[in-house]
Amino acid sequence: MSNPSMPRIVAHRGASGHAPENTLAAIRLAAEQGATWIEIDVNISRDGTPVLHHDDGLSRCTNGSGLVIEHDLDTLLGLDSGSWFGDQFAGERIATLQQCLDLCHELSLSVNLEIKPCSGWEIPTTQKIAATLSAQQKLPPVILSSFSHIALQEAARQLPSVPRSSLFLVAPPDWQALTTEVKASNIHLHANSLLTTAAVAEFHAAGLGVYCYTVNTVDNAKAVFELGVDGVFSNYPADLLAM
Ligand code: G3P
Ligand code: MG
Repeated sequence: MSNPSMPRIVAHRGASGHAPENTLAAIRLAAEQGATWIEIDVNISRDGTPVLHHDDGLSRCTNGSGLVIEHDLDTLLGLDSGSWFGDQFAGERIATLQQCLDLCHELSLSVNLEIKPCSGWEIPTTQKIAATLSAQQKLPPVILSSFSHIALQEAARQLPSVPRSSLFLVAPPDWQALTTEVKASNIHLHANSLLTTAAVAEFHAAGLGVYCYTVNTVDNAKAVFELGVDGVFSNYPADLLAM
């Protein structure tokens, strides 16, 4: 597997400002808008299939309820994951990671897969994602990231050749030890995370790429880029790509 680096603009959850997040529709739209990389959140079903979903629960982005991990894939695939966003997306389904990877390959998109396990499910979730990636014949360029250090440790064990990024809201005091331990290529931080030019320089000096989420306006993007960050995750990639 290659060691890709992400561009300045990454479509966050697909083009999630204009299509329901983490769906195939949002991925297609990101490609149509000119994005070359997307970020997608991945959890697993009760029966162990990786699916695209941000929240532990189903209620915000589907017509289901309860937790993703409480339902088998068959049930999850029967839910509507588009109507909540707009009538034109009615009937959109929760996508599997497999479908996502196939579509990314077809559209020449690269993908940052954020491992988004339910609490306590970090290791099995990462193992199922790793198994799906390992079995994929035509794997697009992938970077794995997670807020969960346990998930990143497992990703390093399972898929040492797939680059990893440590995700934080704000870099903790021990960011260097944590990123070193999982051999992270990047650090991904919240855009309002007390980031300064000096802090970005320190991350760079440690050999890390620096990416910020979620940056939805040109003004915010300019401010963040002035600090020296390498790229941003945006729900509105088209606006930022037009910068
Ligand atoms: O991966 C960057 C960003 O997606 C992390 O936060 O909550 O939007 O998944 P969240
Ligand atoms: Mg995410």
